[in-house]
This record gives sequence, structure tokens and C-alpha cells, in this order.
Amino acid sequence: MANAIGPSTIHKWIGMVDRLQDTDSAYLAELALHGRARGATVVITAPPDPSFVCGIIGCVSDEPVTKTILDGLRRVEYRGYDSAGLATIDGGEMEVRKGVGRLQEIEAKVKLSELTGSVGMGHTRWATHGGVTVPNAHPQESCGEQVALVHNGIIENYSQLKKKLLAGGHVFKSETDTEVIVHLIEQAYRRTKDPVKATSSAVKKLKGQYAIVVLFRDRPDVLVGARKDAPLMIGVGDGQMFIASDVLAFIEHTDQTIFLDNLEVVKLNKEGAEIYNSAGRRVNRKATQVAWELSEISKEDYAHYTRKEIDEQPRTVASAALQDDTLVAEFARRIRSAESIFVVAAGSSFHAGLLLKHRLYREAKIRCDATLAGEFRENQDWVGRDSVMVVISQSGETADVLDAVKLAKKKGAKILSIVNAAGSALARESDTVLLLNCGPEVGVAATKSFTAQVMVVNRVVDAVLGKKRTDGIKELSRAVQGALSTESQVVELAKKYKDRPDFYFVAKGFHYPVALEGALKLKELSYVHAEGMPASELKHGTLALIERGTPVVVINPSGENHDDTLSSAEELKARGARVIGISDVEDAVYTHFIKVPKVEPQMMPIVEAIPLQLIAYHFAVARKNDPDYPRNLAKSVTVK
Ligand code: AGP
Repeated sequence: MANAIGPSTIHKWIGMVDRLQDTDSAYLAELALHGRARGATVVITAPPDPSFVCGIIGCVSDEPVTKTILDGLRRVEYRGYDSAGLATIDGGEMEVRKGVGRLQEIEAKVKLSELTGSVGMGHTRWATHGGVTVPNAHPQESCGEQVALVHNGIIENYSQLKKKLLAGGHVFKSETDTEVIVHLIEQAYRRTKDPVKATSSAVKKLKGQYAIVVLFRDRPDVLVGARKDAPLMIGVGDGQMFIASDVLAFIEHTDQTIFLDNLEVVKLNKEGAEIYNSAGRRVNRKATQVAWELSEISKEDYAHYTRKEIDEQPRTVASAALQDDTLVAEFARRIRSAESIFVVAAGSSFHAGLLLKHRLYREAKIRCDATLAGEFRENQDWVGRDSVMVVISQSGETADVLDAVKLAKKKGAKILSIVNAAGSALARESDTVLLLNCGPEVGVAATKSFTAQVMVVNRVVDAVLGKKRTDGIKELSRAVQGALSTESQVVELAKKYKDRPDFYFVAKGFHYPVALEGALKLKELSYVHAEGMPASELKHGTLALIERGTPVVVINPSGENHDDTLSSAEELKARGARVIGISDVEDAVYTHFIKVPKVEPQMMPIVEAIPLQLIAYHFAVARKNDPDYPRNLAKSVTVK
């Protein structure tokens, strides 16, 4: 992939095509055209957007499709893994098989792999409406089993629609919002006998978000899809066509991707795709090449994606540092000239946001508010045309984040985003975008994306301060490698404390967000109750919970708050806590000491995060949890 075009050039061209209708895939294709016209190799890194909860894949081919669909589902299972199912058509017969649990459990129970046919679709679910049951799993079928459908998203007006359909004699088998769509399509298909017309008329009645794929028993040659505010894309194969919620589902077969725009409906047969816009008019859309290699999403010899992604960080922090200076300068200029600044994110991304706030306050003397995305509504009266919202998100599809962005844009604020998925909704909604360059992150727990976010945040603040970083990245990569070598100690800690009911993470100042990150990682992977807090806060209540044997991680690098944090560690030890010190300097107060290499103060959160990620991973393994698919969670939370 010689002479790939740098982000600045791409953005200059984006500037050029911005005047076009804001149809995301249109400008990506335009971009490719502009690039190629200048003899460049343009590689779009848009998807995957790990985003939408639930994984979808459909395939129509001249070959049997079941294995292709099952392999694709396995690659997108990180998007939701409550239940799953497949439907295929063979010899005029449509068969649906589904079950509760992970794919391999369902395969054992209902033999999904035995389905036959050269057209079919599959779905992995993250439950929103309706419990985790077989009837609520997808595909959902119409009354006469004439139509079957898989869906991502939420239908907000489903109960009104359901009432009408029930009154019209339709029989419902599930508690899902999804099932109303298949009955609406069935109703329209009886009238039109046209798969595209039936689907278009049905989706026009829906309020909410949807990405759907539909099978018609009497049309074994086609698949139909439609989307609104949920990603759905087409894979252009050789003698086969794919439709999926994520490029990862078909990247093994093709990297030629067509991105569907909002409110479009597509009909696929094995030769190609017919795309219709909301007015029912046919639209032409070019395929673009996606730069994600299958190798990037394979576990290689690792037991878990999460462990592999932790190990990638010496490389990914370096690639995150490789930012386009013009874009970073634009980011910094907008922050400096803003009337008010809001840093908005959720989960781990919010912790990186707190580090941004800390450095802007302390070093750049710039006031800003760091707000959890789901709580941003409380700030809305302070957002105006001269406001800037800095948004941090790995997936770029987190519903709370997109909601906050929509609200801020309505008030005229500029959106500056730091995101991993270039083609995500957040990237498309932003005025300036900095990419994490850390590759796809499959493990539900954010690991390499968090340290990449910290690196990009530091690049931005350095630019605000007018500082140009020229060196230190190699040393930082080596330091991250050094921090990874604490694993054997961590494994011992996991054996020792894996059955403790409570865990605390404390730190001060710039390192407090790292304590929050440590607690979040342990909670989401090991299901142990964990709390992160400023060390100073202990004596205002939490100290009452500390008893003999309570494990407390104290993140305490040398520097500004070191001594104060040591006194807090003393207070903890005095009450019987097992104090696990993470620092570049040892101290007798620590029951266990995990030494991390010393790097520049602003980069310390990156090396401190490594043993915290390893603690969460090894506690999960020691407690026999699956670190890649933690219960009740999904890689990106696309429902509010
Ligand atoms: C972190 O490990 C979790 N996966 C979760 O808290 C995540 O950080 C949060 O949902 C935000 O996701 P985003 O960065 O994709 O917006």
C-alpha cells in the first residue's frame, strides 16, 4: 500500500466535496476518485464501526452460504452475544434456526451449520426490547413465514404499530420491537409482490434506528436491506454479494465496500446491488477499498483479543502519535479561540477526556467542562456558536455521545472529535477529526484505544501550548513494553485476590482518571465491585469500607502528589488494606509493588494503564470469565 494519502490531503479534499450532499459514502467515493485522479492509492479506513449493538451479515451467492455467514457472525459476535440465529432458502423452503447464548453453544444445540441454500442471513443479538429468549432471537418471521428479517436498532413507535397489526389479525411470536417490521413488510408484500417496494413502504412507518436485512421465501435470488442511523454496508464479491453491519463480517472475502446512506434501500442478487433512495429513485454508488487486513482481526496465537490488543500497545501508541500537524493545529486553534469548551465522552473515553481537561486547566490555563455524554443535556444552556465540543469515542457510534453532538450542533458549536472508526457517525458529524490509528479493537474492554486516546490528547495539548513533539515516542514504546513485563506479578496478584468482593483504585491529580480507568476495567472484565477515587477522598467515607485484606491499588508515580498519596497509602495500610503500589519508585508502604518505567509526566497514564489492564484481564481469566465477551456489555453502546 505505497504512498497512501495523508489525513491532511484527505481533509483538504473533504473540504472540496463538502459542498456535495452530505451522503457519507458519496464523499468517500468522491475522495477515492479525486485521489486516484492524482495517481494516488486511496485506501478508505472507514469501517468497521464497531458500533451498532448486534451483528448482521447476509450473503447471496452461487455457492452454499451457511459457512460464510457463520464465519462472518463469529467475527462480529463482539457486538452482541445474548443470542443468535440464521435463515436460508433452499429449494423454495425457508428455514430459520436460532438459540440463546454464544454461537458455539447454539451450534451445539440447533446445528446452524446444517442449514443449506445459496442465500441467507445471520444475526448476533444484544437485547434491548424483550428478554434473552429463543422467540426473541433473530431472525424474526412473518405470520405465514413468507418473510424473515434481522434488525439492529430500536423502533420507538413499535407498540402503536403492533396494536394496529394485531387488530389486523397478525400473530406475534416475540416481545421484540423488531417483529413489527417483518409483519409490516409481509402486509406490503401481499399488496406489491415487490421486495423493494414492500420494504420501503414498511420502513417509512418506523420511528427510531434500524439496519435490517430481509429474506423473501419466494425470492431465493435476492436479499433486501435498509438503514436509518445504524450502519449497514455492502461487500462486493466475485459471484457473491454481502450485506453487513460491519466490514469485519465479510473482509475475508472482499475489501470492496459500498456504504449505504441513511434511508436507502438495497436489493442484492449474486451479481450486484440496486440502491434506492428514500424517494424510490435508483442511485449509483461506487465501491471503495477498505484498508483493514484480516490479520488485524484475527486472534493470532492469543487466547483472547483483549490480551492481543494489550500487547499491541508499544506499536499503537507510536501510530497514535503520528498525527497530521495541520489537523492537530486546527484542533488547537479552535480550542484556543473558543468561548467555552466541553469535553464529552463515555466510559474509558471519558477518562481520557479528564486527562485532556486536566492538562488544559493546569498547563494551558484554559477552562473547560468535562461531562459524561449521557449527562451533557445539563450543560446545554451554556453551549453557543462560540463553543467547542471535544468528543472522544473509540467506536464513534455511542448513542449518548451522538446525542450530545446533535444537541451541541443545534446550538452552533464546533465539533472536534478523537475517534478510532473513520467512517463512523461521529467522524461524519465532526468539523475536525483526529484518528487513533490503533486498528480495529475487538475486545469489549477498551485497552489500546485508551492509551491511543491519551497519546492524541497529549498531541493536542502540546499544540495548544505551541509545543512540537519531535522525539520520545521510541522511548515511550519501550516503556510500554517494560510495563507489559509486569505480567507475571499480576498473575500472582490475580491468584491471591481473585475472590475478594471489593477492590479500590486511588490516585491524585493527573492520575486520578487512571484510577477510574483501572476500576472500570476490573469491573467490566472480572465482575468484581471496584471503585476509583482521588486518594484524598478516602477519609471522607470510603475508608469505612477498608478492612483486613481489602486490596487497594495506589497509582503513585514520583512527582507532584507522590508524598500526599503515600500518606493515604499509610492510612489504608493502618486499617489492614493490602496496598498494591503502581509507580516508578518503590516504598515500604506497598504490600505489593508493580514497578512501571518512568516517562514524561504527561505520558505516565499510558504506562500506568498497562498493569491495570493486565490486572483486569488476569482476574477475569482466574475467575473463568470470557475477557472478550463480558456479560451484559457490548463493544459500543448504541442505545440511550
Ligand atoms: C470501556 O472498556 C468500555 N468498553 C466502555 O466503557 C466504553 O469506553 C464506552 O462505552 C465508550 O465507548 P466509545 O469510546 O466507543 O464511545
